[in-house]
Amino acid sequence: MNGLLEVFYDDHEHALAQLNQLEKYLEYIKKNGEAEKVRIQLISFSKFLEIALDIHFVQEEEALFPLLVQKIGPNGPVMVMEMEHGDLRESQKALKALLTKEELDKEAILEHGGRILSVLREHIAKENQVLFPLSERVLTEEEWKQAEKIAGEIALGQKLA
Ligand SMILES: [Fe+2]
Repeated sequence: MNGLLEVFYDDHEHALAQLNQLEKYLEYIKKNGEAEKVRIQLISFSKFLEIALDIHFVQEEEALFPLLVQKIGPNGPVMVMEMEHGDLRESQKALKALLTKEELDKEAILEHGGRILSVLREHIAKENQVLFPLSERVLTEEEWKQAEKIAGEIALGQKLA
């Protein structure tokens, strides 16, 4: 497997572990009817997701998806992945805003947190099982090199010399 896909699969493993934590916090809120005791944990999750949205999602969108579009067209799997990225960006912003409130709105937290939980788990499953294996089949070694360069620049926040 090429280096970039290895990084993407690892990122997904890490995200799934974070989602298991999120699920525990949401269960706590449902069981106890209050969210204050898990506020800092939810803030920490929200920050994790914000960073993933700024790096991993952008790496996929700018390094991988454009090359895939050249091979399989803009509709179909790439369009679905991009729509789900948009959905997750909205949900993360909504959850973050809820966590800044002095009085926590537990119903809204359960709604947006629950949405992130289900959308992101399914999204990762689709990328792992469909999109990444497809990418491995259709992209050339040269294209992977190009993708890795772009992904590296996104993570570094600057152009490679
Ligand atoms: Fe991903």
